[in-house]
Amino acid sequence: MQVHKNFNLQALNTFGIAATCKYLIEIHEAEEIPKAVDMAVHFGLPYLIMGGGSNMLFTGDYAGTVLRLCIDGISEEVDGDEVVLHVGAGVVWDDLVNYALDHGYAGIENLALIPGTVGASPVQNIGAYGVELQDVFESLKGYHLEQGFVAYDKKSCQFGYRQSIFKGSLKGKFIVTEVSLRLNKKAVLNLQYGAISSELQRQNIHAPGIQDVAQVVRSIRTSKLPDPSKIGNAGSFFKNPELTEDQFNQLKSKFPDLVGFATPSGMVKASAAWLIESCGLKGVRRGDAGTYEKHALVLVNHGQATGGALWALAQEIQLAVAQKFGISLEPEVNIIL
Ligand code: EPU
Repeated sequence: MQVHKNFNLQALNTFGIAATCKYLIEIHEAEEIPKAVDMAVHFGLPYLIMGGGSNMLFTGDYAGTVLRLCIDGISEEVDGDEVVLHVGAGVVWDDLVNYALDHGYAGIENLALIPGTVGASPVQNIGAYGVELQDVFESLKGYHLEQGFVAYDKKSCQFGYRQSIFKGSLKGKFIVTEVSLRLNKKAVLNLQYGAISSELQRQNIHAPGIQDVAQVVRSIRTSKLPDPSKIGNAGSFFKNPELTEDQFNQLKSKFPDLVGFATPSGMVKASAAWLIESCGLKGVRRGDAGTYEKHALVLVNHGQATGGALWALAQEIQLAVAQKFGISLEPEVNIIL
């Protein structure tokens, strides 16, 4: 366990915001957590839990303690054609994807190149290109601030669209230490997302394997999402708002170009990117805070933007979308006020 005082978090959040925290405690072993939490309580300040810092916006300096999870390690349990991977919370998500690809384990190839750590992946039930974490999730272990070390099965996690119990009733009360995923040694590919099949066709790949799918996902992502190591960002800033079919159809009659996707629950997800673009807010800049020129849903730091400036832009977007469409956009990113 390492403790730092007055630490600059710029290199630890993918927005590249130069916010400081009063204390940073780096945790390398699950067993260190009770002591780290005691220490944070002893400092008498608020505290928060951080993984890869890829889904957080510090709106200013944080007058509290950041507990950063750096727990490493991947172990395997073979179960017939399936394999369960037990993965430390601090493992970089895309390193895990590469591990699975190298070993021929299918299930997370569509989730290639998502920034962040494995420990954060169940918190917001990461998803992309037709696959969500919950599709391969087996269980997790973690530290409950009131109950100590506990395990959660899939049902207890209450997964939803970019949602879980860890963002809901357990927010701030639970630290994920290890995530277990059930992958398949036989590739059962998920190619339902239109962009994947068209890109495979374009590249003349007719019998794709998991490596091909990951390669195609990486090329789609890099063509429209900014690389956080070059332009600070946290992926999609807002969730796609879920509307009833009636609400969606009413809106569509006023705005015929409105883009939406039916969900299995019978709701329709309206494209937040489309809503923002329609308000003329794609590729705009307010100083160094902006929206990405190739994807309106991604807020970017062009260099020196403060968290406050990015948050002001996010609120400007919320207001514009509410005024034009009567829809309130909910941030997907965790806003640290
Ligand atoms: N679109 C626009 N303007 C834009 C960009 C997109 O109008 O600037 C419209 C297009 O019609 C496009 C549609 O929006 O077809 C959907 O765009 P995209 O395929 O990029 O998906 P998304 O709904 O914007 C979601 C996830 C992404 C994930 C992609 C692919 C959310 C909040 N975001 O974005 O996840 O990569 O689908 O599955 O659900 C993330 O969570 O950080 C993230 C990047």
